[in-house]
Amino acid sequence: MSRYVSKAIQGMAFFFAACAVPHTWAAPDAVAGKAKAQLCAACHGENGVSSIPDTPHLAAQPPLSIFYPIAAVP
Ligand code: HEC
Repeated sequence: MSRYVSKAIQGMAFFFAACAVPHTWAAPDAVAGKAKAQLCAACHGENGVSSIPDTPHLAAQPPLSIFYPIAAVP
């Protein structure tokens, strides 16, 4: 077996071992997510369509642009 192939197999073994380690991300929790999103609804509107001048609509924003501010909510 070439040296390259054995390195690749070692790499895969490491990858799968890493997958087995419990990680700290919680399972998605729609109820908690909705509670956090209520904060945003105060200004950005219940369905992401804001009725306040100078407050942008969040509907149709790229998902990560919403994810980061919500993830920052304690
Ligand atoms: C107190 C009112 C208020 C609350 C609460 C609020 N926002 Fe905002 N948000 C604004 C305003 C005003 C802007 C526009 C700021 C600017 O243009 O500098 C904004 C901008 C944004 C933007 C950028 C949108 C764009 O088109 O540039 C995102 C994304 C965003 N808010 C997400 C959130 C999320 C997610 C939450 C809840 C965790 C939240 N906001 C809570 C008032 C609020």
